Amino acid sequence: MKVLIVGGGGREHAIAWAVAKSPRLEKLYAAPGNAGIAEVAECADISVMDKEALVAFAKEKNVDFVIVGPDDPLAAGVADAFLDEGIKTFGPRKNAAIIEASKAFSKDLMKKYGIPCAASETFSDPDEATAYLKSRKAPFVLKADGLALGKGVLICQTLEEALDGIKEIMIDKKFGDAGNKVVIEEFMTGREVSVLCFSDGKTILPMTSAQDHKRAKDNDEGLNTGGMGTFSPSPFYTADIDRFCRENIYQKTIDAMRSEGREFKGVLFCGLMLTPQGPKVLEFNARFGDPEAQVVIPRMENDILDVMEACADGRLDEIDLTFADNAAVCVMLASDGYPLSYEKGYPISGLEKFKGSKDKFVFHSGTKLKDGQVVTNGGRVLGVTALGPDLKAARAAAYAGTELIGFANKYMRHDIGKAIDEA
Ligand code: AMP
Ligand code: GLY
Repeated sequence: MKVLIVGGGGREHAIAWAVAKSPRLEKLYAAPGNAGIAEVAECADISVMDKEALVAFAKEKNVDFVIVGPDDPLAAGVADAFLDEGIKTFGPRKNAAIIEASKAFSKDLMKKYGIPCAASETFSDPDEATAYLKSRKAPFVLKADGLALGKGVLICQTLEEALDGIKEIMIDKKFGDAGNKVVIEEFMTGREVSVLCFSDGKTILPMTSAQDHKRAKDNDEGLNTGGMGTFSPSPFYTADIDRFCRENIYQKTIDAMRSEGREFKGVLFCGLMLTPQGPKVLEFNARFGDPEAQVVIPRMENDILDVMEACADGRLDEIDLTFADNAAVCVMLASDGYPLSYEKGYPISGLEKFKGSKDKFVFHSGTKLKDGQVVTNGGRVLGVTALGPDLKAARAAAYAGTELIGFANKYMRHDIGKAIDEA
């Protein structure tokens, strides 16, 4: 099978790593890829948003199967562009990717179909949003409707902060058109867990659970980022919670999307909060999480191409999805200053120490090759993932792995997986 992966981050590197292990793979391409993906794939310098160039490339190379990794191209209809040309593709069509691309849409869906989530109201008029806030008690959660690189959510402890937030999102348009509408949500408390699920539009198969660390600094301080590290499984996601979620969240959501004429094929990422009233949905994403993929995929025992193709073909009911009885921890190595401003272009050392390892991996997020040398090329640079018999062993091995890598302005959190000690 000839496969093309669209994307060039850590998630796509983890996918590429798994695809490269498949005995069914004949040739792997990536667009645009990165320096890590280039070790297992031929990379083409095409933007993830350039539908025409992507489709032309897939046709020229006789690609049999396309995997679309990131949210932006899915929301823009890149999966549709391949599917409409008869090319088998993993990833939802635009009309289903809206479950991530519009928080107002996903809240309406959850309300209509009785899927547990925070109470909320959606506004397109800043004056109405302001009047609503003044009628309620803090804290408030404000969410820009559209895609904002995981940064469009504001937790406001006071009314003043919330009013400033409405101005930033709806008037100053800090997140651009993503802020045309705003969702104001009830503040919830509890542990967070990410459950990524494969779906073919009818059947949904949850993967093993994971937990992300979204804030830039230790102790969950600092700004929201794309994610600074993950562990899997979450010890807080018990068998009882899993049963509840399968019944009341995962299957219901896939059925709801089908009833709405928006068949969802791909990965449905359910961001959950385990509240005192039971699990509730924080957000849906229409793709693998990043860096959730870097801990979930290495624990998967199936051939990833078999599972992804079954999703595209609508025969996921034939798949027995299994994960190893172990644990994984990923620590992101970032450029100091991320998520605001940071420098790029510094040489990276130590990557060769991970070559051939079966239990520690380095997935590239923001890297590129410059004159044969791998250099930093983004805010999030590399994810160091280690497997272990349990979470504590995996965490120790991941942090030991971070010591092997060197680059100027290397930054990481030192408390990834701290919650493990409270389990
Ligand atoms: P989201 O992108 O919607 O997952 O939100 C980003 C982060 O904001 C989440 O991971 C939570 O930590 C926090 N968050 C979002 N919604 C709520 C809520 N209703 N109550 C409390 N925290 C929230
Ligand atoms: N790690 C969170 C996300 O991928 O959105």
